Amino acid sequence: MNKISEASKQIEGQIIEWRRELHRIPEVSHDLPKTADYIFRELQSLGVESIIKNVGILRNGAKSCGIIADITGTSNGKTLAIRADMDALPIREEVLSPFASVNGNMHACGHDAHMAMLLGVVKLIAERRSELKGKVRFIFQPAEETINGAVPMLLDGALYGVDAIIGLHTGTLWNEGKPGAIGFRTGALMASTDRFIAQFKGKGGHGAMPHLTVDPVLMACQSVCQLQSIISREVSPLSPAVITVGMINGGAAFNIIPDIVRIEGTLRTLDPELRKRLLLRITETIEGVARSMRGSAEVTVIPGCGVVQNDDEVVLKMVNIAKQALGDDMAHVISEPTMGGEDFSAFLDKVEGAYFFHNATFGDGRDMPHHNPKFQLNELTLWSGTAAMTAFALYWQEDIW
Ligand code: NI
Repeated sequence: MNKISEASKQIEGQIIEWRRELHRIPEVSHDLPKTADYIFRELQSLGVESIIKNVGILRNGAKSCGIIADITGTSNGKTLAIRADMDALPIREEVLSPFASVNGNMHACGHDAHMAMLLGVVKLIAERRSELKGKVRFIFQPAEETINGAVPMLLDGALYGVDAIIGLHTGTLWNEGKPGAIGFRTGALMASTDRFIAQFKGKGGHGAMPHLTVDPVLMACQSVCQLQSIISREVSPLSPAVITVGMINGGAAFNIIPDIVRIEGTLRTLDPELRKRLLLRITETIEGVARSMRGSAEVTVIPGCGVVQNDDEVVLKMVNIAKQALGDDMAHVISEPTMGGEDFSAFLDKVEGAYFFHNATFGDGRDMPHHNPKFQLNELTLWSGTAAMTAFALYWQEDIW
């Protein structure tokens, strides 16, 4: 199986070139015409026969620009989907390089590398059709950063006929092991992410005569504190959960009590049941605090993505296959889940699968956080992501794992 690693190393130059070309044309959300055209053309030139573009049904009925491509093996078997996200961020790049973006957007999260690694898998699998059982479906998904790209693709049938799915995140998010290492975790890997908005209504008036008013500023302040006591008093200390209020807006002058104050925040959990319970308690708490202070509050919850819940059996298979393909020191257990979110969760809600991390750090102090205008990744690690996914696609249906 380490032949796969060698083959992947041999096309390393091509993977890096794909990544750089995509890095030059970053686009955001569902509006990715150049990126989608590029992927479509490359898939065609790699000899893939079954390619569908404009996959994804948006809320207004319009189509998105996702792409799905299938390669069918010469013997019967199951279908594995592999997903890469396509979108960049509205960040002005500050890295000086010959392939830096000049259009005001930036691939500052590594999705350019995800697409390049997946094109590498397409190339290696297309050359090994006779070794492939069943089918591999390659999913290129828009709008991950805005966490509304996976569901439109599901609605358009992206997982139709699929038995399992895998996907990875590269970059500096995870840096255990050496550069190029793959990280796995059974169970929950990433958090559910929901947004809540509360509007407190009181009765405005003079700041010197508060007894003649109903003060929504105080309601908002009490609520922010009370929300933290949900975490400290109603959630097991062994269950991770975060409530963060990131915005408070209201008022126009230092000596006037306003009519209305708005707060906005996010809830993160690693447990779907806890998520449901806490969304209810956030609403009850805010409404209750406002009522107890003679005002009222209207709470709106905007659901985000669910928990990224890996299937244990798929993860164990992946660990074994990655160790065989890359060596024992290149596959690690991820020591902690993250409270960041990922809409890959929507795929995992439908079929079994695993999301995993790929270490693309430099290991020399150059590493920058994701979404930073100076973000860079270590291109010399990309071959290992391609190798791990290719090996899994070829061997996951064997009984030996
Ligand atoms: Ni990302």
